[in-house]
Amino acid sequence: MKIGRHEVRYPLIQGGMGVRISGGRLAGHVAKCGGVGLVATPGVALNSERYDGNNYFGAGPLALKDELRKAYAIAPDGVIGTNCMVALTDYAELVRASCEGGAKLIVSGAGLPLNLPELTADWPEVALVPIVSSVKAAELIARKWKKSYDRLPDAVVVEDPDTAGGHLGEKLENIGSGQYDQYATVRGVKAYFREEFGVDIPVVAAGGIWDRADVENALAQGADGVQMASRFVCTEECDAEPAFKQAYLDCRKEDIGLMMSPAGLPGRALVANIEAIRARDLQMTPGCPTGCLKKCTYKSEQERFCIVHALDRAQRGDVETGLIFCGTNAWRATRIETVAEIFTELFGDQPRAGSV
Ligand SMILES: Cc1cc2nc3c(=O)[nH]c(=O)nc-3n(C[C@H](O)[C@H](O)[C@H](O)COP(=O)(O)O)c2cc1C
Repeated sequence: MKIGRHEVRYPLIQGGMGVRISGGRLAGHVAKCGGVGLVATPGVALNSERYDGNNYFGAGPLALKDELRKAYAIAPDGVIGTNCMVALTDYAELVRASCEGGAKLIVSGAGLPLNLPELTADWPEVALVPIVSSVKAAELIARKWKKSYDRLPDAVVVEDPDTAGGHLGEKLENIGSGQYDQYATVRGVKAYFREEFGVDIPVVAAGGIWDRADVENALAQGADGVQMASRFVCTEECDAEPAFKQAYLDCRKEDIGLMMSPAGLPGRALVANIEAIRARDLQMTPGCPTGCLKKCTYKSEQERFCIVHALDRAQRGDVETGLIFCGTNAWRATRIETVAEIFTELFGDQPRAGSV
């Protein structure tokens, strides 16, 4: 798969996972195995040596560059990038820090990344990859980029709201209604770029892809590659604390559900402790501690909870009052494996392995 100027051995992007679930270590090892490794930028300052409790926005770009350095130390020639959420207050700073830190691509969603080419204008070699959940969103982005910047996306990730983990780009009431067709959307995006602009950019399917059969199915259904996130949580190299990984190993299908994030988007997570998360934040963090999101109902009305701290707690192993994002497949994790083992199962020449 070729994304912009960057060729990758296997058609796999490891999905960005904030807060610090996909840091430099996971991204580096995925890149070393021949996939695209992504460092997630949301909350990257938290739990880093750059953060002193008061310098959230100052520490973010520095902590991000530290993670990129870690990733490149593991895979010096790897295809390593970042995941930047449009909804973040410091989106522009994190995009620029990604470029300065040597990211080869920026994958960007949780809102439409309409000004991403402007923010990266000084780094034309950095590939730009929006995340969408509909053909319409891809059209809006492409039209705006073409008109304002004479640029098109280098690839597009199509994220399936019915299966993906984390924040989802669909209204809560429509998720799981059976209306959404992941691969029809993939093919629709592919056809749009061909017909409208005469270009053949990689369209990457995200959400619900776990084993070799899923990858083969995605490619057979018209995707050029896959983005996988939940599968990489239960790896030795994943940057989360062991208790976070154990929560995946312990969870059952019925523990995975939908919640409304204070960011105003639905999210998929382990939902049993949502009330405990809120109770903890109201007691210990009764105001907005960082202003991490442009729009946040906890910041404006003390509704729900502080998402960046809830995710940070989970990453550190507090699974009682931490928020554990996961895709619908998380229950399929049965052991801690290595990133290399996953690549062998997905792409190795050995007889086809079943799901792990
Ligand atoms: C723990 C976790 C954290 C995530 N954080 C982010 C994030 O910070 N930004 C983002 O764009 N997507 C995020 N996602 C979504 C993934 O990048 C990915 O697109 C999606 O989970 C794919 O589905 P899968 O988990 O079934 O493979 C997250 C997913 C998980 C499981």
